[in-house]
Amino acid sequence: MKEFIELLKKNNLLRIIEEPVDTELEIAHIAYIEAKKFEESKALLFTNPVNKKESKKYKFPVLMNTFCNEKALDLAFTRPYKELESEITQLTKLHIPTNFSAKIDFLKMLFGLKNIVPKRTNANRALYRYESLNSLDELPVLKTWEEDAGKFITMGQVYTQSLDKTQNNLGMYRLQISGSNELLMHWQIHKDGANFYKEYKEAGLQKMPVSIAIGGDPLYIWCAQAPLPKGIFELLLYGFIKKQRAVLSPCENTLFVPCDSDIVIEGYVDLQEFKTEGPFGDHTGFYTPAELFPVMKVEKIYAKKDAIYQATVVGKPPLEDRVMALGTERVFLPLLRTSTPDLIDYKMPENGVFHNLIIAKIHTKYPGHAHQLMHAFWGIGQMSFVKHAIFVDKEAPRLDDYEELVPYILDNFDPNKILLSEGICDQLDHASANACFGGKAGLDACSKAHLETLELVDDETLKKIFENKMQVYALKQFYKKSQSPIVCVLLEKKKRIVELFESLLEYKKHFRIVVFLDKENKLENPYMLLWRVVNNIDAKRDIFIREQRVGLDATTKGILEDYKREWPHQTDCSKSVVEGLILRNIIKDEQKLFDKFEIFG
Ligand SMILES: Cc1cc2nc3c(=O)[nH]c(=O)nc-3n(C[C@H](O)[C@H](O)[C@H](O)COP(=O)(O)O)c2cc1C
Repeated sequence: MKEFIELLKKNNLLRIIEEPVDTELEIAHIAYIEAKKFEESKALLFTNPVNKKESKKYKFPVLMNTFCNEKALDLAFTRPYKELESEITQLTKLHIPTNFSAKIDFLKMLFGLKNIVPKRTNANRALYRYESLNSLDELPVLKTWEEDAGKFITMGQVYTQSLDKTQNNLGMYRLQISGSNELLMHWQIHKDGANFYKEYKEAGLQKMPVSIAIGGDPLYIWCAQAPLPKGIFELLLYGFIKKQRAVLSPCENTLFVPCDSDIVIEGYVDLQEFKTEGPFGDHTGFYTPAELFPVMKVEKIYAKKDAIYQATVVGKPPLEDRVMALGTERVFLPLLRTSTPDLIDYKMPENGVFHNLIIAKIHTKYPGHAHQLMHAFWGIGQMSFVKHAIFVDKEAPRLDDYEELVPYILDNFDPNKILLSEGICDQLDHASANACFGGKAGLDACSKAHLETLELVDDETLKKIFENKMQVYALKQFYKKSQSPIVCVLLEKKKRIVELFESLLEYKKHFRIVVFLDKENKLENPYMLLWRVVNNIDAKRDIFIREQRVGLDATTKGILEDYKREWPHQTDCSKSVVEGLILRNIIKDEQKLFDKFEIFG
C-alpha cells in the first residue's frame, strides 16, 4: 500500500489532506465529489481522521478513491489493464503449436502460469511487524451517508474456505460494525461467501472461519470484486495479472491472508446468529433496506505500525467502482466468449450501475442470434443479474461512443424485437416485486428497423397533446433525428402508468417510445435520467408494448402497482456537510458538478 501511494504521488494522482476530517460523512463526501471528476480525479489520503461526535483521533490514515482513474488502474495492474484481454484470449484458445517459435511462445506462457498460485508461508504476524489491536473502535471506519445504520468497512477483502477446504474464496462484501468486536457480514445470496456459509450451515456446524484483510497491494481488492466463477480463487487472477504469486500468512482461524495486508481481522461467522444490517447507501445510488445478515465474531485484530485504512464510497454514479469495472469488462470479455463465441465486445455504462444495463456487440450469423445470447447472458454467473441488455451488430459504432451509438440503436429499434423475460436479479435491485427475482428486457438492435415514419412535433405541441390525457409537468424528446426518438414525460402519477400509456395510443403517429418519470426528475440531465430509469424498472411489470409503441414506467412504485416492498431513498449528500467543507477550503464550491450528478437530489 505504501509503495502504491508513492506511485500515485509520482504520477500526480494523490491529494493529501492533513486537515482533521470527520470519519462520519465528511471523508466520504469529499471522496464522493472527487470521484465524479472522471480522469481528473485523484486518490485521497486523509492523514488526520477524527470522529467529532466521539471526540476521537485515529492513528491510521484513510486512503480513498484508490482507483481514481484509468491511469491508477494501470498502476495497480502494473501494466495497461487493456492488455489482459488478449492475454486471456490466448489462454482460452490454447492449441498445439506447429512451428518452433510458436512452441517457444507456448512454453513461455505455460512457464508464466507457474507464478499464479498463491504461496503459503508459516510466518506469524510478529514477523511482519503487526501489532495487536483490542477493538474495531481503533480503526477509522466511515459512516458514508446520513441514513446509514452506522459505520461500515467498505473495502474489506473477505477470505473464506469451503467446508471440505478444497476451495478458497476472496470476495468484497461490506461489513457493518455492530459492536467493538462484531461485524455484520453482507454477503449477498448469490455470492461465493454465502454459498460456503450454506455448506457449513447444512453440516450443522456452529462456526465458519472468516478473515478480513484491509489494504496491502491494491490489486487484491480489485480481484475481490471480480466476478470469477465459484471455485476459482481470486488470488489466482492476482498472480496471473502480476506474474507474481501472492504470498500468504496463516491466521489463527486456519485461513490465510496476504502478508502485506495493512490490517487483518480474524474470527468466525456464527451460524446461528443474525442481526439487522443496514440501511446502507449502496452503489445503485439508493439505500438498501435493513435486512438480516450473519454475525461475525472478531477474535483478533492486527495492524501494521504504519497501516493505512483503505475505504471507498458507493452511491450515485460515477464513482470509483466505474474504474474498477473498466478492468472487469476487459478481463471478462474473453471468458464470456468461451460461452458466447460471437460476442465481439460489451460495455456496462456506469450510470446503468453495471447490472442494470449492458450493451453488447455481436457477430450475427442467423435469425434470433441476439436472443440466443440474451438467454446465455442471463444464465452466466453474475452476468445473470443484468436487467436490460441491448445487442448491436458488428457495424455499430464503438460501444463507449454514446453520441454515435444511441442514435444507431434507435434507428434499429423495433418493438417486435424486445424480449421480456424473468430471472434472478441482484439482491440490491429495488424495482422487482420480490427481492432477487425480477423482469428482464433484451433488445435486438442488430439490424435496421422498417417502421412507419412518425409525424414529429415540437416538445411544446406534444406536451399539449399529452395533456388531453394527463397532467404533464414537463416533456422532452431526445434523439429526434433518429427513427424512434425517446419522449420523456414528467408527471405526478394518479393512476397506473399502463393506463395512461394506452390512452396516449390515440396520438401514436407522434411517438414510438415514451418514458414516464416522477416530476422531480431533471429533463436536462440525461445521464441521471438513464440512471434512474434503469434502476426503477422491472421489465415484466414496467415495459408496455402496444400497437408498435413502447411505454416505460420509471416512476416510484407503490400501491398502484401492488408493490409491497419499501421504495428506497436516494443517496444524497448532506448539504450542511458539503457547505462546511467548502467553508474550510477542503473542497471547492463546484455547483455545476454538484448539479450534473445531482449530489443533493
Ligand atoms: C465497492 C463494492 C462494494 C461491494 N459490496 C458488496 C456487498 O456488500 N455484498 C456483496 O455480496 N457484494 C458486494 N460487492 C460485489 C462483490 O464484491 C462481487 O460480486 C464479487 O464478485 C463477489 O465475489 P464472490 O462471487 O467471490 O462472492 C461489492 C463490489 C464493490 C465494487
